[in-house]
Amino acid sequence: MTTAVELPKYQELSDKELMDWTPKEFTENIIRKSEMFGEAFFDKEHWKTVELDEETRQKNLIEFCARLAWREFYNGVHPPSKQIVMLEQGDDDIGIRIRLAQQIIDEVKHQRIWGSWCKHYGGSPKLQDYDVSPEVIKQFRLTNEYEDIAEIALNLQLTGEVILVFLFGYGTLKPENSITRQLLPDELVKGIEKEVVNDEPRHIAVGRDIMKKYCGDAKKRRHLLELQQAKLENTIKIMSRDLDLLGAERTGPLPSV
Ligand SMILES: [Fe+2]
Ligand SMILES: [Fe+2]
Repeated sequence: MTTAVELPKYQELSDKELMDWTPKEFTENIIRKSEMFGEAFFDKEHWKTVELDEETRQKNLIEFCARLAWREFYNGVHPPSKQIVMLEQGDDDIGIRIRLAQQIIDEVKHQRIWGSWCKHYGGSPKLQDYDVSPEVIKQFRLTNEYEDIAEIALNLQLTGEVILVFLFGYGTLKPENSITRQLLPDELVKGIEKEVVNDEPRHIAVGRDIMKKYCGDAKKRRHLLELQQAKLENTIKIMSRDLDLLGAERTGPLPSV
């Protein structure tokens, strides 16, 4: 039995240690922790594949695509819309505003692309036809229900979006080591690359600039790191269900966040 991957518990650092990091270092450590989570969670060493009959496989794939369409729209459109109005008035943050507006356009497109895959596998392309699961709703709340722009950036651009590409078989894990890369149909993995996966770096980049500017003092930084821990805990729930639908069962320990 392999031991659980321990991710760095930055939330437990002292005020001094947290403030010794420049805003850039603080931001990069958040992103790196998300990548480490993706690498540990999606490594195929920790999963075994389960044989699904053709009918179940098809039905599950429809649900997988519908869950993604819903998440692209609700997590991708609502939180950046809130972020735009949380920015400083005047011209100081105009570049960030424009990039967030672009993100909203991208995420509407992503929802449509997942909807069309849903239809391709025999399901409905309409968002309103998807019966939302509790962990998907919870993930939306954990991404959206904040008053501060850095809280949303932490959850959306610097954690959720960094990890999401691993679910599609991309990210910093080698394709041959990715459990989802083994399970998702090749046509789907290739089909979403250009129009979905390749948009993510610019969303992460705007989150990075927001965090560098708004990461604040030690108290705020610790709070943000605690939010990341909660987000990762729910990510384990939501993505375990995604993998269950694709036909994988966890055999190794979950990453410790
Ligand atoms: Fe997206
Ligand atoms: Fe995105």
